[in-house]
Amino acid sequence: MKQRLHKYIAGCGHCSRRKAELLIQAGLVYVNDRVATDLGFKIDPDKATVTINGEKVEPPTPLTMILNKPAGFITSTHDTHERLTVMDLLPKSAITRGVLPVGRLDLETEGLLVFTNDGDLQHRITHPRYTCTKTYRAALNRAPSPDQLNELRAGVFLPEVGKKTSPAEVELLPNQAKPVAEVRIGEGMKRQVRRMFETQNIRVVHLERTAIVDVTLGDLPRGSWRELTETEIASLRQEGHE
Ligand code: URA
Repeated sequence: MKQRLHKYIAGCGHCSRRKAELLIQAGLVYVNDRVATDLGFKIDPDKATVTINGEKVEPPTPLTMILNKPAGFITSTHDTHERLTVMDLLPKSAITRGVLPVGRLDLETEGLLVFTNDGDLQHRITHPRYTCTKTYRAALNRAPSPDQLNELRAGVFLPEVGKKTSPAEVELLPNQAKPVAEVRIGEGMKRQVRRMFETQNIRVVHLERTAIVDVTLGDLPRGSWRELTETEIASLRQEGHE
């Protein structure tokens, strides 16, 4: 099936779609030895040879995995201050194959973080067009009232982001020693769960992401990783959900 050239380049994990467009406009991208400067250019990935400044661009052998992120590791591929990053918890072989974190978790947030070298999958998970449900367990300094729970469910205005959150599922979990809420959101605004509770003067004292769509942490220990199954990857692509 034919594919737009910039999408193919990004799907190979070479760079973002926007950057691919810039490379095309700059005349650095060749298809079958001819320069391609038209942004609408389509190729048949099975037949075309794409090179960028002399280097062949090919889809990598796909690898998608999850990490149970511990607190204290930043979600970044490198850190200018030499702090520990989530990449320090992955096997070197996965890094060589070009996996990158999909989205981010705050320094203190724990739980499920996806990594992939599949640019198309990365796009499917992070692009707002495909609302991808993320589930969090938030331990709180005090329990929200029924009215506060309803406000959080309906959507709250986050002043730091300048936006109202979309409807969410928010439930207080029964039989907990301290208040714990389970939150399901389709968006990923910066520090969204913490900020949602802050609007109600409630502090999140511990935050863990437990699932993305149907992919769950299961019994994966904190700090450990595992590859995803084909069924789990299909769930992240939300095949049939569109
Ligand atoms: N919401 C937050 O507040 N922090 C995260 O890391 C993820 C979601």
